[in-house]
Amino acid sequence: GPVRVLVLGAALRAESLNVRLASLTARLLVEAGAEVDLAHMRDFDMPLYDGDAEAAHGLPQGALALFDRLNRAEAFVISSPEYNASVPGVLKNAIDWVSRIRPQPFKTKHALLVSASPSLIGGNRGLWTLRIPLEHLGTRVYPDMFSLPEAHHGFTKDGELAHPGAQERLAETVAGFLHLVEADTRYICLRRRWYEF
Ligand code: FNR
Repeated sequence: GPVRVLVLGAALRAESLNVRLASLTARLLVEAGAEVDLAHMRDFDMPLYDGDAEAAHGLPQGALALFDRLNRAEAFVISSPEYNASVPGVLKNAIDWVSRIRPQPFKTKHALLVSASPSLIGGNRGLWTLRIPLEHLGTRVYPDMFSLPEAHHGFTKDGELAHPGAQERLAETVAGFLHLVEADTRYICLRRRWYEF
């Protein structure tokens, strides 16, 4: 069957540029043949990580819900803003909570990172810092990333990218990522079958 990809718009704002980029990325993934689960960070309400709260109550509902959605996917995409050239606290907090669950769901999954920002850089510095916790957790972070600069002017009414070159570049990045995930997923299935013999 098709590869399942969780696409997470990693900002809380209803009008978030990164949520819009997540929606477009999801649409491009579907066009490329993936099965997509589109999620918004607002779906995963959780308190700040606190070891005492964890010891007393375990994981909060929001973290368990994100864990579950990650688990049902073979790969994931994060569309995240850049805050002060780094990862927004809300996203880092969610990664920290979910990383406490075993089996830890970031491990061995493929991930594509994208960002949108009103700035001229497009949030790319934040994505480089997002690689650090994900790679630490064993995620195979796709080497290529996509960052949309001047994103407040970047979308058409239909949610496509206004700059045709940018739209083409995003579609190519998505297709390349999906190709890798599909090849690797087939390989994993084959390997499992060999082990069964
Ligand atoms: C920002 N913003 C920002 N933008 C950027 O390109 N580089 C940066 O370092 C920062 N830093 C930053 C810090 C904080 C605390 C805020 C609130 C904002 C601007 C940011 O890109 C802009 O607000 C985006 O619109 C946020 O993403 P969403 O919510 O539109 O997805």
